[in-house]
Amino acid sequence: MIVIGGSASVNLAKDIASELGCECIISDTVRFPDGECYVRVDRESLEDDVVIVQNTYPDDNLVEMLLLEDVAKRLKAKSVTIVVPYFGYARQDRVFKNGEAESAKVMCEILGLKADRVITVDLHKEDTLKEFRNSETKDVKAAEAIAEFFKDKEVNLVMSPDIGAAGRAKDVGTRMGVEYDHLNKTRLSGTEVVIKPANADCKGKNILIVDDMIATGGTIIAATEQLKLAGAKSVYVACTHGVFVNNAIARLTGSTIDGVFCCNTLENELSKISVAKVVAKAIKE
Ligand code: R5P
Repeated sequence: MIVIGGSASVNLAKDIASELGCECIISDTVRFPDGECYVRVDRESLEDDVVIVQNTYPDDNLVEMLLLEDVAKRLKAKSVTIVVPYFGYARQDRVFKNGEAESAKVMCEILGLKADRVITVDLHKEDTLKEFRNSETKDVKAAEAIAEFFKDKEVNLVMSPDIGAAGRAKDVGTRMGVEYDHLNKTRLSGTEVVIKPANADCKGKNILIVDDMIATGGTIIAATEQLKLAGAKSVYVACTHGVFVNNAIARLTGSTIDGVFCCNTLENELSKISVAKVVAKAIKE
C-alpha cells in the first residue's frame, strides 16, 4: 500500500502511513500564476493499492484531490482509496429552498468518478455517502479518538449542542463511561443561533460539548452560555473539524469556554486530537 498526501493534509497523511507501516509520498503541488493547480507524484508507476489523503475544502483543495485521483489511475494504481478528512459542502446535503444546488451530492458525484473506496471522517450526515454510486464508502467516527483524549480529564457529562449531534454525545459519553445529553438549537442565520436552556442537571459538573464542526463558533458559545447558566463548573469543547471562520479562534478564546480542542482533519493551532489511528484502522478493514 502507498499513501499519497495532498497539500491540504500532509501531516495527517504521514501519520496514517506511519500507522499503516507503509510509504508516504507527498504530492508536488504548485499553483500556476493564474491560480490553477498543478500536481505531480514523482514515481514511474504506482502498481499498488493507493490511498490519497486530502481535504476537499476550500475549493482549491477539491480540485487537487480530483487531479491526484487522475494521477493514481494514470500511474496504474491497483485500487484508489480516497480519504477526505474534511468533506467540503457536506452541510448543503439537500435542497432547502427551491433553486438551490444539492451541493454535497455534486461533490460525491465528481469525487467518486475515479475512486474505488471513499473514507470520510464524521461526515455531517452519513447518509450523504449513498450518493457515491460506484465506490465503497465508510464514515469513520472520531468519537474513539475524542474519548481517549479526554479520558483523564474528569468529565462528568457529555453534551451535544443539538439533537442532530446527540448520537455523537452518546458515543463519546458511553466510551468514557459518563452521562450524555443534548441541547436544542434553532439556527436563525449563518452566524446566529439560539439554544434552549439545558434539561440535564449541570450543577457543579465538568461538561464536554462535542460537535462535528466549529465554523463561526456561534453554536458552541451559545451552548456554553446555557450550560454555565445552568451551573456547570467547567465547559470544554471537542469538535472533529475546526473550520474556524470569521475570527472564530479569537472569539472562542475570549468566551466563557474553558478549552477548545479539535481533531487534525483540518490542521490548526487547536487540532490536538489525532484521527490517524481510527482512519488507518478503517483502511486496513
Ligand atoms: C450544525 O449542524 C453543525 O453540526 C455545527 O453545529 C455548526 O455547523 C457549527 O457552526 P457554527 O460554529 O458557525 O455555529
